[in-house]
Order: sequence, then C-alpha cells, then structure tokens
Amino acid sequence: MERMIAQHGHETIGQVGKREEMAGRLMVPLDYSDVTQARLMIEKLDGIPCYMKVGMQLFYAAGPDFIKELKARGYSVFLDVKMHDIPNTVRGGAESLTMLGVDMFNVHAAGGTAMMAAALEGAAKAASLHPSQHIPLIIAVTQLTSTNQEMMNSEIGITGTVTDAVVHYAKLAAAAGLHGVVASPQEAAVIAAACGPEFVTVTPGIRPAGASLDDQSRVMTPGQAIRQGSHFLVVGRPITAAADPRQAALNIIEEMSQA
Ligand code: C5P
Repeated sequence: MERMIAQHGHETIGQVGKREEMAGRLMVPLDYSDVTQARLMIEKLDGIPCYMKVGMQLFYAAGPDFIKELKARGYSVFLDVKMHDIPNTVRGGAESLTMLGVDMFNVHAAGGTAMMAAALEGAAKAASLHPSQHIPLIIAVTQLTSTNQEMMNSEIGITGTVTDAVVHYAKLAAAAGLHGVVASPQEAAVIAAACGPEFVTVTPGIRPAGASLDDQSRVMTPGQAIRQGSHFLVVGRPITAAADPRQAALNIIEEMSQA
C-alpha cells in the first residue's frame, strides 16, 4: 500500500510520524456481506495505513482467503469473531487464526480464565511451530454494548452495574494473560486504573463532534477517546458512510494526532 499520510506542505517528520502512529490505531470495520463491497471501501481508503476489522459477516462469507488478501495489501487485521467455547476448541481456533497471520482476534471473557488462557496457548503454539508467525494481540469482549444494565441483571443474571461487570471481566482477562479488552471509551480510564495503562483497550462507539450517532448511545469523539487512554479506536459509519471516506478518515487521524 502506498502511504499517503502526509497532508500538508512544510510538515516536520514528527508530525507525519504521529499521523502514521494514529492511523495504525484507527480500525475501520469492513461490515459487508461480500468481498466486492469490502474491496470498494479498501480502494476508497487506499494509502491510509489503518487497521482493518473483519467481523463475522464478512469472514463467514469470504473466509481465510480475504484475510490473506488484506495481509498481502499490507494491512494489520483485527479478526472480530468473538470466540466462546470450551478451552480445547478455543485453543484450536486460536492456533488456526495465528497461522492465518491476523494481528488481533478476540474471545468472550464470559468463557472464563481457562478458556482465555487456552486461546493464548493455541496462539503461542502456532507461533512457536511457525517462526514466521507472531502471537496476535488477544482481546476479551467484556459486556456487549448492546447489553444494558436491566438486561444484564434480569436476563443474564449478573448483578451490579455494567461498569462493575466490565471491570471484573477485564481483570479476569488480564489474569489469564490476555492483552486487553473491547470496551466503551467511557470505560477506558477505569480499565486502565484496574489493569494498568499497558492493558489494551479497543473502543467502538466513536463519533466525531456533530456526526450522526446512528445506533450508538454512549459515544466519545476521537480526541476524547485518545485522551481517555484508548489504544485502538473502531470507527465505522462516520468513515464508511461518508461521502468521502478517505477525507473522513484523514480528519479523524488528524483529530487523534492533536489530542
Ligand atoms: O459504525 P460504527 O462506528 O457504529 O461501527 C462500530 C463497529 O464496532 C461495528 O463493526 C460494530 O459491530 C463494532 N462493535 C460495536 N460495539 C461493540 C463491539 C463491536 O459497535 N461493543
């Protein structure tokens, strides 16, 4: 991919480097049902060295070949398939995803510490057998943002507030050796306090000031999320539904760089 992160004339290498770093912390979800639509979006973002997030919809349709294509194009890939199964099955799944060369994948913290540790074991095994592969960042899903407190208390049977549950799961993930969690940007600071500033937070629910909220409710701007300590920002529709996705992404990277 030809890098196009420099925007203005008379810039210092430091400013360009900062934008490169922030582009690498921006994750664009390719929420499409087929590779043709995904490739169209990739073309619109060409030259921006962001992370690409592939979720269940595209992965179940396009499979490992599309992940290899993204890697061949030079992208970092977050495979968002939220594994949740018995430890032995998750160990095998993690081994296969590591072999595929993804840079990040996730599991549900609700699977427990043995399951999360098994994910790490599977990844470590694949990386040790194949030195060209590295251990991906393995991230735990805490409480889905579609779960509100009433649902969590009355249907799922977890007492307390959603934030309590998120912090509890984050601590479990850290104890199991995982690298971080997916969380709301509002929770990034409390998670950093509980698990340390190096513990990675991947935060959806990002909206630039004035952008449509769509179906997200508790949102933060890109600048606020960076200042709260989010490591990776997942930004979908503000980029993918924009008239000019490349410019929208560059504006967000600029805001992240200034934060
Ligand atoms: O378009 P938008 O910015 O809302 O997209 C957010 C992306 O992050 C989507 O791919 C969505 O599935 C994902 N996501 C989320 N909330 C979570 C976990 C993932 O919005 N808790």
